[in-house]
Amino acid sequence: MHASTEDSARPIALVTGASSGLGEAFVRALAQRGYDLILVARRAERLAALATQVGAAGVAAEVLPADLTNDADLARVADRIRTCPRLALLVNNAGFGVDALYYQSEFAGQSAMARLHVLAPMHLTHAALPGMVARGHGAVINVSSVAAYLCGAASVMYCSTKAFLNSFTISLAAELAGTGVRVQALCPGFTHTEFHDAAGMDRKLIPKILWLRADYVIDQSLRDLERGRVISIPSMRYKLIVRVLRMTPQWLISRVSRKKFAAR
Ligand SMILES: NC(=O)c1ccc[n+]([C@@H]2O[C@H](COP(=O)([O-])OP(=O)(O)OC[C@H]3O[C@@H](n4cnc5c(N)ncnc54)[C@H](OP(=O)(O)O)[C@@H]3O)[C@@H](O)[C@H]2O)c1
Repeated sequence: MHASTEDSARPIALVTGASSGLGEAFVRALAQRGYDLILVARRAERLAALATQVGAAGVAAEVLPADLTNDADLARVADRIRTCPRLALLVNNAGFGVDALYYQSEFAGQSAMARLHVLAPMHLTHAALPGMVARGHGAVINVSSVAAYLCGAASVMYCSTKAFLNSFTISLAAELAGTGVRVQALCPGFTHTEFHDAAGMDRKLIPKILWLRADYVIDQSLRDLERGRVISIPSMRYKLIVRVLRMTPQWLISRVSRKKFAAR
């Protein structure tokens, strides 16, 4: 049994996609940093197990199972945010990948990605910001990706939705200047989570040097948030990769991505 967030006075963080990977790592890191938590994802039993684990260390953790591609579930999570006066941090982290050409894949999956990566962060951020601005503090982390800097074959919606998250976050940062509320787009590279299994990707195709640990990514994100960095790219490797990508002509990135997909 885990303690209710109603019985505590600590700041609250709501994390979407808390049932595995980066979301779970956020939950563990934020619990250690003195936050109570609201855990959102579809797999309720995983959320309950995590809530019990962090609850053993005195953290109040509330489980809020929801499919964020579903309008009614999304509205329910947004309502919970609006009625949470101690909400200090919203982490829009839930996401997934599809390893297929856009025009050959099921539209339902591509549309679910737009709902999860675009509509859900838009809706939850819109629910969170008025309260945070009124209180003069708070933060929103949108989990994007280095894919925001790529445009290529077989990840059309993934790259597009992550580019949206970067643009959305940078624009919000301009609106929120001077309010005490911070926003961040977290852009990790390849990180050990369940992401690649869920997308049916072969991890062996990715060089070992490119892999990051989830706890390292979260540590870098939270440090960058303290420093007020709007874009967080964990590790020097990926900072360099992004710098090179930004200088590379788009036609070259597109051609390489198409060839890589065709060679598999
Ligand atoms: N791993 C990487 O290499 C990498 C790199 C860059 C960016 N990212 C981003 O990091 C974020 C987290 O991914 P991850 O790597 O931690 O992968 P993961 O281990 O597969 O976790 C994805 C999380 O999203 C949740 N989720 C998926 N669909 C959902 C839905 N319809 N409603 C609610 N929750 C949903 C999953 O929970 P349920 O299945 O229980 O709903 C799970 O908790 C994603 O936005 C991803 O794009 C990952």
